[in-house]
Amino acid sequence: MCEPTFFEVTYSINPWMDPSRPTSNARGLSQWKTLHDLLVELGHTVDLVEPVAGLPDMVYSANGATVVDGRALVARFRHEQREGESPAYLDWFRVHGWETRQAERVNEGEGDFLYTGDVVLAGTGFRSAPEAHDEIREFFGVPVVALTLVDPRYYHLDTALAVLDDNEVMYHPEAFSPESREVLAERFPDAIVADAEDAAVFGLNAVSDGLHVIVPEQAKRLPGQLRERGFVPVGIDMTELLKGGGGAKCCTLELRPAR
Ligand code: ARG
Repeated sequence: MCEPTFFEVTYSINPWMDPSRPTSNARGLSQWKTLHDLLVELGHTVDLVEPVAGLPDMVYSANGATVVDGRALVARFRHEQREGESPAYLDWFRVHGWETRQAERVNEGEGDFLYTGDVVLAGTGFRSAPEAHDEIREFFGVPVVALTLVDPRYYHLDTALAVLDDNEVMYHPEAFSPESREVLAERFPDAIVADAEDAAVFGLNAVSDGLHVIVPEQAKRLPGQLRERGFVPVGIDMTELLKGGGGAKCCTLELRPAR
């Protein structure tokens, strides 16, 4: 995670970001801290990367890299406003002993690449390039399932789909192209389908540890849908950080050590 010390909305690279709307640094920090403390309480180890002044989006650490089996493929951002984040993540991973490389193709890390345990679900349409999918396949040696996003509000895969455990996901079908909807329906016939209202409060930008699922407290139906399947939903308020277009998942990059 990366503390939102320098969080503010000074530019707009997604429909959620409106620089004319004021942000509160204190409120962003307290929401982020609640998420941090919750992860620790649930028994997870949280490592921190040092925030860099002038990089207000660095709080969305999910975009910093994709990490599977001890290897980190560090992001190459689509927008120049975020380019400066890559060196910070490269440094962090190298210093901490991970096998590290920066992506050659536009690749926004776990924003678009979600590991399910046997494949990587790979988003494209707005941010990560389709060519980045081949690079993911080669670097991690795992199959990649390409998914195309079509609604600009859901510009990263992790805003429209969450991996709950090795076999299950929840997603908002309307965020995907008709072909991708078919792929998802076939691969995950029992998936939780989020309605438009829950998707619009970033209900799918959830962090799951396989049991607990941290979801925005504004989501109405998802907590019940999760409970029905044996998950334990834990509500959180991330509305300040949503002004930058991110929620709990965007603020969390999962580190998967070598198996
Ligand atoms: N302002 C950031 C951007 O548009 C938000 C990133 C959200 N992160 C995510 N994993 N979806 O790039």
